[in-house]
Amino acid sequence: MSADVRIYRDRDALSREVAGAIAHRMDETLTATGYFTLSLAGGQTPRTLYRVLATQYRDTISWSRLHLYWGDERYVPQNDPRSNYRLVRESLLDHVPIPGENVHPIPTDFPEAEDAALAYEQMLREWFRSSWPRFDLVLLGMGPDGHTAPLFPGSPALAERSRWVVAARAPVDPRLRLTLTPPVLNAASLVFFLVVGSEKADVLHRVLTAASGPVPYPAAAIRPERCAVVWWVDEHAAQCVPRSGTPTQGRR
Ligand code: 6PG
Repeated sequence: MSADVRIYRDRDALSREVAGAIAHRMDETLTATGYFTLSLAGGQTPRTLYRVLATQYRDTISWSRLHLYWGDERYVPQNDPRSNYRLVRESLLDHVPIPGENVHPIPTDFPEAEDAALAYEQMLREWFRSSWPRFDLVLLGMGPDGHTAPLFPGSPALAERSRWVVAARAPVDPRLRLTLTPPVLNAASLVFFLVVGSEKADVLHRVLTAASGPVPYPAAAIRPERCAVVWWVDEHAAQCVPRSGTPTQGRR
């Protein structure tokens, strides 16, 4: 399936469109099921999206039917400025009427990160009760080296085929992290990558044109079976994306 690349002027415009797409997808999903499972991205790019959801969609999203999970977490306390949970709490959770029991952060208070990974995996297995979890939507970011979540080039976690959650090492602070594994990310019903900044332009082009099979860019390993990945990118990140032919793309 070819990639679907959507290009916007800047992070604000992109975030407004992604928020609208999430709300729309929720409406569609909730007519068939009772809840919507959303796996959140770490990093700074989605902060604006979370703020848009907390303000422009505060009164329209069915918060009681939304279940929030994290695709990855830095292994730091929840109140640490580097925590992905804290970023979401400050930009979204503190401002919307989502029930506490619908919020499922990755634990970071086990002495061993591997035990925290097992605990989160167990919680997910009890919720999804299937061979692989099928999130309604997975949000991801990408770094200039093509990493996504803490799946950096060469990470052993890229080869994981049975675990749902593992501890992973990052080459940058904080070095210890937890992540959903590639088979989990690839089992999702829909995947959105959010990518902004000219420092990601070259790798974005490489990821979009990478052949299937082992590639040096972890983001290219996210190829869900059931859907196309939607790439929401700003003009700076899209500098090297071909403007015609495949992958399909559109400018907004
Ligand atoms: C993290 C994420 C990481 C992030 C990318 C992009 O916790 O940092 O796991 O994969 O999504 O590094 O980060 P930015 O959005 O900050 O550029």
